[in-house]
Amino acid sequence: MSDEGTTRSGGAVLVTGAAGALGEAVLARLATTRRPVAALVRSVDDAATLRGGGVWATPVDLLDEAAVAAAVASATAEVGPIGDALLLAGGFAMAPAAETDLAALRRQWDLNVATAASVVRALLPVVAAAGGGTLVGVGAGQARRGGARATAYAAAKAALAAYLRAVDEEWAARGVRTVTVFPMGTLDTAANRRAMPDADPRAWIDPDVLAEVLLQALHLGPRGRWREVEVHPDAG
Ligand SMILES: NC(=O)c1ccc[n+]([C@@H]2O[C@H](COP(=O)([O-])OP(=O)(O)OC[C@H]3O[C@@H](n4cnc5c(N)ncnc54)[C@H](OP(=O)(O)O)[C@@H]3O)[C@@H](O)[C@H]2O)c1
Repeated sequence: MSDEGTTRSGGAVLVTGAAGALGEAVLARLATTRRPVAALVRSVDDAATLRGGGVWATPVDLLDEAAVAAAVASATAEVGPIGDALLLAGGFAMAPAAETDLAALRRQWDLNVATAASVVRALLPVVAAAGGGTLVGVGAGQARRGGARATAYAAAKAALAAYLRAVDEEWAARGVRTVTVFPMGTLDTAANRRAMPDADPRAWIDPDVLAEVLLQALHLGPRGRWREVEVHPDAG
C-alpha cells in the first residue's frame, strides 16, 4: 500500500513505550514514512538515546496525568500537530487467579490500561483538532481466548480493548478512531528469548511484522477500516 491517498490523518505520530522491544521495531518502520514522530519513554536515558538517533523523545511516567498532558503539549510544539498514536506501553505478569491479589490486579490495570488511557485523554482534543486520526492499542492473545496463569494480564488487556472500543464510539464522529491489535502469541524479543531459553522462537511473532500491522492500522481509508485485528504466529 502506498503512503499516498490512504492515510486519513496526517501530522505527527506519537508513540508510547517507544524504548521497548516493539517500540524499536515501530520506530524503524516509522522512519521510512517520513512522518514526524514524538516518542514517550519512561527514562531520561532512553529519551537521550532516542534523541541521539534523531527521534524527538521525552521522558514521562504515563501514570502521571499532568506530566502526560505536558508531554503531549511539548510534543505538539516540537514536532507539530499529532494525528495518530501507537500506544505500545504495557507489560506482562504471570500468575494464576489464586495467586493474584488485588494489588497485582491493579498493577496490571495501571500498566496496560492506565498507561494508554492517560495518553488517550490528553490526545483526544489534539487529534480531533488536527482533523482526526487513529489511536492504536496493543492487546494480547490472553484477552481473546483465555489467559490461564496470566489472570490479571488477560483482564487488563481485555479492559484496554473495551476502553478503546468505547472511545471509538464516543469520538469517531469527530474523526478520532481507535484500533486494538492483538498479538496472538509471544513476540520474538531479546527479553522473551532470555526468559524462555528452551522455547523455539520460530513459533513466536516477529516484532517487525507486528510493527507493520500497527502502521497499516493508520492507513485504512474512510470507507473500510479495522477496529480489532489479530496477528498470529506463522509456524511456516
Ligand atoms: N512481548 C510480548 O511477547 C508481547 C505479547 C503480546 C503483547 N505484548 C504487548 O506489546 C506491547 C509492547 O511489548 P514489548 O515487548 O515491547 O514490551 P517492553 O519491551 O517491556 O516495552 C514496554 C515499554 O512500556 C514502557 N512503560 C511501561 N509503563 C510505563 C509508564 N508508566 N510510563 C512510561 N513508560 C512505561 C516501558 O518502560 P520501562 O522499560 O522503563 O518500564 C517499556 O519501555 C505491550 O503493551 C505488551 O503488553 C507484548
